[in-house]
Amino acid sequence: MPSSRATSLIEAFSRAGQRQVFSFFDRLSASAQDRLLSEAAEIDLPELDGLVRALVTGAPGSSPGVDLEGLSPAPYVRLPERGGDAPSWDAARAAGEAAIRAGRVAAFTVAGGQGTRLGFDGPKGTFPVTPVRRKPLFQVFAEKLLAAERRYGCRLHWFIMTSHQNHDASVAFFEEHGHFGLDRSRVHFFRQGRMPAVDYSGRILLESPGSIALSPDGHGGSLRALDRSGALDLMASEGIDTLSYFQVDNPLVRCIDPAFIGWHVSSGSEMSSKMVPKAYPEEKLGHFCIRQGRLVVIEYSDLPMALQRERDASSGALRYEAGSIAIHAIDREFIRRMSRGSGGLPFHRADKKIATVDASGADVRPAAPNGVKFELFVFDALPFARGPVVVETRRSDDFSPVKNADGVDSPATCRADQLRQYGRWLSAAGIPFAADPSGLPEFDLEISPLFGYDEVSFAQSWSLLPQKPPLAPGLVLDSNPS
Ligand code: UTP
Repeated sequence: MPSSRATSLIEAFSRAGQRQVFSFFDRLSASAQDRLLSEAAEIDLPELDGLVRALVTGAPGSSPGVDLEGLSPAPYVRLPERGGDAPSWDAARAAGEAAIRAGRVAAFTVAGGQGTRLGFDGPKGTFPVTPVRRKPLFQVFAEKLLAAERRYGCRLHWFIMTSHQNHDASVAFFEEHGHFGLDRSRVHFFRQGRMPAVDYSGRILLESPGSIALSPDGHGGSLRALDRSGALDLMASEGIDTLSYFQVDNPLVRCIDPAFIGWHVSSGSEMSSKMVPKAYPEEKLGHFCIRQGRLVVIEYSDLPMALQRERDASSGALRYEAGSIAIHAIDREFIRRMSRGSGGLPFHRADKKIATVDASGADVRPAAPNGVKFELFVFDALPFARGPVVVETRRSDDFSPVKNADGVDSPATCRADQLRQYGRWLSAAGIPFAADPSGLPEFDLEISPLFGYDEVSFAQSWSLLPQKPPLAPGLVLDSNPS
């Protein structure tokens, strides 16, 4: 005899045309029934119905699509070496340092993705990424945060968004490694929300007879998850008003970058973003643009290639050159506003191969996309932000993601980019070494952020070494000699 909770959920799903979710209910054990009911209870049926109509089953051409009317490239703050105003950068850096020292800034990593392209078994943050020690991504960020704490004499909080799938493994990894030297009371994990996947007629897919095909609701889900988890309240009670947002797949990121934070806080921006000039027109980065007076990011797949190839007549630079590298500074109360009430972020449709079951309950592993997942993107908050600023950064100092198993944005390219960065620091300190024409050192080495995190800190630590180690394969500079 089903419980009243079961009866009312099954009725609600039946009314919504989603009765198939309970096709195998009678065959399940009591605990499996409970699990399925809990998953079903997570689903907002009216919201899903609206999404299915708008993004899946609507008449062809009825989906909102991307409005390119009146689009123009977004302005951005240029680096001093590319024509930016050096004194303004100095002022921004000073303002950022003051905010960091005052404890107003926390780090925020989105680590809830499924990492399917990389194909690594485990949370992506546990992926071994550094050239010699093979330190995991999480450890690289932890050491950058420790270095920033030492430099600015402050205590940094670190918020990490996980998914239902990788939460326990991520937390256990930090436990096993003593939180990489960070104070565990300032490392905060929370899970992001989930959304059901549907087939092309809008019917919710089952992953197995007793479970719904649920997947993380996209990095944009971070805004509502920050609110729901209590992270925003914790920030408020700690006097933190700014989150330094970055992705788990990018070990080059300056987790706490005073100049960027400074541009953000001193311009009164509610959400700011870093940009790099696109390396080539086809590069798969989102584009910072202005549409109807608002800052937006238009994905590479949504901006016609003719526009992506357009060049400025005088400089020859790409007109839509400002590429998004998914690094943002976000104001706490802006997040609260975005995560509540209507007018939140729009969902996007992603066609995927979704593991499911057939009518008999047998596993189906499709070879081609068989359905749709719904995802929120964090950059969709930009048009709602007051005074957003886009700030240029050097790609080589901030961006080399690990996305794919090989080829572009892979462990191999990221490893080479880390080595080139170390090479630049050696050169800046006047230390000769053998490198190829791209600046890639001809031997493996590794410099921990605790030894140096930029040219200046590296040179300082190096000068303090009582005995300089030989530049030989496998050189590791791991801790601060001061
Ligand atoms: P990606 O867009 O690269 O997605 O995420 P992914 O899920 O990690 O990888 P693929 O597409 O399956 O290969 C960019 C960043 O956003 C986070 C990821 O963890 C990564 O840091 N993310 C993505 C989330 O936190 N939650 C999501 O639902 C999606």
